[in-house]
Amino acid sequence: MIQQQSALTPQEILHGLSTRVLGQKIDCLSVTDSTNTEVKKLAESGAPDGSTVTAERQTGGKGRLGRVWDSPPTGGLYFTVLLRGKHLPEPLTNITLLAGLAVCTALRELFCVDARIKWPNDIVVDSKKICGILAEAGFENGRVSWAAVGIGINVNNTAFPEELAYRATSLLLETGKPQSRCTVLQQVLEKFEPLLEVGILPQAYTDLCISLDKQVSFTQNRQTFIGQARGITPDGELLVVLPDNSTVAVGSGEVVVQGIYGEKV
Ligand code: BTN
Repeated sequence: MIQQQSALTPQEILHGLSTRVLGQKIDCLSVTDSTNTEVKKLAESGAPDGSTVTAERQTGGKGRLGRVWDSPPTGGLYFTVLLRGKHLPEPLTNITLLAGLAVCTALRELFCVDARIKWPNDIVVDSKKICGILAEAGFENGRVSWAAVGIGINVNNTAFPEELAYRATSLLLETGKPQSRCTVLQQVLEKFEPLLEVGILPQAYTDLCISLDKQVSFTQNRQTFIGQARGITPDGELLVVLPDNSTVAVGSGEVVVQGIYGEKV
């Protein structure tokens, strides 16, 4: 059954939003190709730190590693936050890990679901994906000038395309009832802002990371490695111990984790 949901509005979101910066300037679109693309345009025209764009649906939703983010108007929450200046962590790659932590803690606190982080920034419940995050950055004179952090959360989705169904879930499916996309958005922004202000990866990230102590596989320089994920560095890299006892720090790309999304290593 397709859930009817009311469109997000700036008034509804700003009502009771306790952030100082994030989401305080917000545009709510009915349709766009990608909220990340909208925010990039805003960034290039000088929009302020924290500017946020939501959309009811995206015709060209972008995922990590060049993938598509399926973005129908039936239950998903799609938004992108523009970050500048003091809200850009060092290294910048930690931005998506901090966003993942914000989503994970927001969902845990609001709905008591056992949300976990699959390194670096997929949020999973019950070994299925409930949220994906894609950050893009703009540079000026060789320095990062802004970042667009795009977040897609499966809130009231009741079904997924066949190829995703075995590996995706939603808040509705996990809690048994429709949830407010507005409340989810407000809580994520409220969790994200203080994390960005401190700017370092807290222990909570490691505590919630489901990839640790599991068999993982990853590819570097066209070679596939299998090992045991053992830790996260302060720069957000995944430490993997290989069978010969050497340790590799994985900084980017896809890491397959035994048992998550039903995958085998
Ligand atoms: C992934 O897990 O592959 C990342 C998915 C990111 C999806 C969000 S939805 C809002 C924003 N706009 C996009 O086009 N992508 C991100």
